[in-house]
Amino acid sequence: MPRPKVYVTRMIPQEGIDFLNESCSVEVNPEDRPLTREELLRNVQGKEGILCLLTDRIDAEVFDAAPGVRGFANYAVGFDNIDVKEATKRKIPLSNTPGVLTDATAEMAWALLFAIARRVIESDRLMRSGNWPGWGPLQFIGGDVTGKTLGICGSGRIGTAMALKSKGFNMQVLYTDEIANLTLEKELGARKVSFDELLRQSDFISVHVPLLPSTRHLFSRRVFAAMKKTAYLINTSRGPVFNEVELVEALRKKLIAGAALDVYEFEPKMVDGLAELDNVVITPHTASATISSRTNMGLKAAENLLAMIKGERPPDCLNPQIFQ
Ligand code: DGY
Repeated sequence: MPRPKVYVTRMIPQEGIDFLNESCSVEVNPEDRPLTREELLRNVQGKEGILCLLTDRIDAEVFDAAPGVRGFANYAVGFDNIDVKEATKRKIPLSNTPGVLTDATAEMAWALLFAIARRVIESDRLMRSGNWPGWGPLQFIGGDVTGKTLGICGSGRIGTAMALKSKGFNMQVLYTDEIANLTLEKELGARKVSFDELLRQSDFISVHVPLLPSTRHLFSRRVFAAMKKTAYLINTSRGPVFNEVELVEALRKKLIAGAALDVYEFEPKMVDGLAELDNVVITPHTASATISSRTNMGLKAAENLLAMIKGERPPDCLNPQIFQ
């Protein structure tokens, strides 16, 4: 029997490719860069399964280009790059990679929190410049963490993990969500609050909402103005959840103390002015970039893809209704 043809839109850790190779004929984008639109449309032709990335826009045009496709496995937990409604209408199954990057992303949120509060990157820059004059009582005074209030915007898997890791810092934890998070309430005495209360009370706000029409530009001028002037924002979710131009304006005016960002509104670009500010820490969308997390994302995506190729419901199905 011929082996099903699978296309992988960019190299992922080898374990995922090896897993697919056991039963499929696998073609991988040989370039270490996202495919152009033309390349994507050309390379999906004639394939039965596609392992795609958050940098690939998967929509009606791609579905038209790959009429024989039996499923798209996204190598990410976020899936705002895929037109799920259109795929569902066409009965094309989709999957993502939840769970395996939860701790890595929560750890990165903490790394960013400390980096911005304790001015780690600014300090590193000074040391490398060779201009450190020696210890000084007023140098790089930053924000306190222990005992402060941590606001979790979106208490799903990653928001919950981020909050639970605050245990050693004796923080008050507030969170926003549609439903009560009993784990956070039981483990930390966390309190579910309105978005506006989260803004008013938090010393740190860590953002963990998916990108949806309702969360696009959730953080904008009004929100920055409603936060404490001493508060910090951490974003490891999706860039467009912030209005980045208005964030730069707020940081310039010192409406908030700082922001630490792993994601950007117009990736891979940043809006003008952001990179020049001292009160930001910026990392290149690497929150899930640990060895085990990226390896397991590849294995999970491969496992989902194989199930879809066989006509089975994948373990992490984004549109389970098509199997009913
Ligand atoms: C995701 O999985 O959605 C992250 O943004 C990348 O790992």
